[in-house]
Amino acid sequence: MAIKKNKPGLNSRHHHIRTFLITAWRLPILTTDLQKLGVYDGINEVIAVTTNTNKTANAAPIGLYKHKHHLQIHLYQNKTRENLKHREYLTANITQDPILIVTSALSTLPQETYTEIEYQQQKYPVLKNASTWILLKAKQQDTTTFTLQTLTGAAKKQTPRAINRGLFAVIEATVHATRYVIFHSKEQLRCINYYNNIVNRCGSPAEIKAMNILCQLCNIELDSSLL
Ligand SMILES: Cc1cc2nc3c(=O)[nH]c(=O)nc-3n(C[C@H](O)[C@H](O)[C@H](O)COP(=O)(O)O)c2cc1C
Repeated sequence: MAIKKNKPGLNSRHHHIRTFLITAWRLPILTTDLQKLGVYDGINEVIAVTTNTNKTANAAPIGLYKHKHHLQIHLYQNKTRENLKHREYLTANITQDPILIVTSALSTLPQETYTEIEYQQQKYPVLKNASTWILLKAKQQDTTTFTLQTLTGAAKKQTPRAINRGLFAVIEATVHATRYVIFHSKEQLRCINYYNNIVNRCGSPAEIKAMNILCQLCNIELDSSLL
């Protein structure tokens, strides 16, 4: 797994995104109605997939702000922001997979993780395992803010999962981990440790595995006695 540096770089090898038959997306609900796609007012944590200059795909968890009909994202200096400057489209991918959340935040995903959707004769990368994708056109407002226009979206039918505190703890830990890899502060380490304890108590094997990957990618060892 290629580890993202503070400002993650490109996968060094040049991969063209291959077109797959999107069998998993057979019979999705196609709509631009954001509520039907699972996006409500407030901050929606999605995985933003953008296109790198060498045509490969890039993924990162990003908060999608919705207020009535307005959608926007705020981006720090990262690959996602760089990519939107040369191709102003992204797909917002919704997933409950803790491993995808951790690995997209802290490493470069293999290109096999993606498939493509087609809209008006153009192709856009999405995560194969997302339960929903939304194609958005981004317009930069200032250094960090991009407003978004919804072009199309698709949602798979899914069996609801009962709330698991472990999943939310992985998400919180990953937010701290993305800061820890830049600032290496003890406070962030303490927070990751705190959420790791919740994951160990409440999480399924997938959440526990996601936390182990997080620790490897951040090069940290957790110790509950630090709490
Ligand atoms: C749940 C979650 C939400 C995040 N939201 C944002 C965000 O809104 N804006 C941002 O710039 N980074 C956000 N991050 C951090 C980025 O995902 C992280 O810095 C990532 O490495 C950027 O990857 P990139 O360089 O490939 O774009 C978030 C991380 C997590 C775990």
